[in-house]
Amino acid sequence: MSRETRKSFIIKTAAAAAALSIPGAGLFSEEKPRPAMKFGKPKKALVVWYSQTGHTRRIGRIIARAWERKGLKVTTADYREIDAAAAPSYDIIAVGSPVYYLDVPGNLMEWISSVPAIDGIPVAAFVTFGGKGDNQHNTACAILEALAGKGGVPAGMGLFGNMSTYAPTWSMGNESRILKFRNLPDGETYARARACAADILGTVRRGTPFPAEMRFEAGTIFRHLPQIAGTRFLIGEHRVDRTRCIQCLRCEKGCPVQAIHPGEGSVERKKCILCMGCVNNCPADAVAMTFLGRKVYGFREFLRRNNIEIAEPEELAD
Ligand SMILES: Cc1cc2nc3c(=O)[nH]c(=O)nc-3n(C[C@H](O)[C@H](O)[C@H](O)COP(=O)(O)O)c2cc1C
Repeated sequence: MSRETRKSFIIKTAAAAAALSIPGAGLFSEEKPRPAMKFGKPKKALVVWYSQTGHTRRIGRIIARAWERKGLKVTTADYREIDAAAAPSYDIIAVGSPVYYLDVPGNLMEWISSVPAIDGIPVAAFVTFGGKGDNQHNTACAILEALAGKGGVPAGMGLFGNMSTYAPTWSMGNESRILKFRNLPDGETYARARACAADILGTVRRGTPFPAEMRFEAGTIFRHLPQIAGTRFLIGEHRVDRTRCIQCLRCEKGCPVQAIHPGEGSVERKKCILCMGCVNNCPADAVAMTFLGRKVYGFREFLRRNNIEIAEPEELAD
């Protein structure tokens, strides 16, 4: 099969699979009437994210700062520090996520599913992703869809590309795939984040919902495959090397599913969702993981080996 034919085959198959698995192929359920957007002058905003290596957190903080500068009172934190029950008390809610395995990480989706009714509250999504890939748009739509399921009304979304943090890529010798984007995030990324914050606010002031529509992309079909199980199959060892561990507990605190126990040197493999947070954030290279027999090393170490320092946005420098 020629390259072009193969590409169009994948796209067609993806469209067929998506049409089968997403009823009506539209983003939002038309079964119950959608609430109208509560619009006007918002006063209180919630900016919440999931972020293992800081890319999504940076964008979330820029959005929060931009809104603060417009006079809003903004609550901003990792989703684990925010009580979902408080969501209805905000005038705008923005939720940020990395794309993991072509989708929204399940742990963040679980938090969204615990949000009570937020009828009419404008909602936005911001997503960071690694390199080219696919499905970033649909990942943002999936967040909006989940929030719309709670009664939220889409007010915008932003997609921000940067270096991927999927540690097996560089650990397997494909550093160049990541290093292509070594300059990202950059000033332009941060300017787009500020513009995204302004656009969302403009939408809320006008009260015209943001037209979020899932797209059928080549990656759509892969999104329906067991991505995490595939990676799990290729991982050999996954434990904490107690001879290297400095007991900083960063891995334990960052693990979204409480699967890692540095005190015992163990990882509950069945619980683990392979976010790579433990490997990526360990300052002592003490998380022993192998992928196809090769040692996996983390994002901190990748940045160090390649002499990369991520430029912080100016408003977050203080
Ligand atoms: C486990 C894992 C899976 C990933 N899967 C994808 C993916 O499917 N598509 C993509 O574009 N990027 C993928 N990435 C890259 C991340 O989306 C990207 O680096 C993101 O900005 C990380 O955000 P964070 O620093 O806030 O965690 C993946 C990264 C990890 C660690």
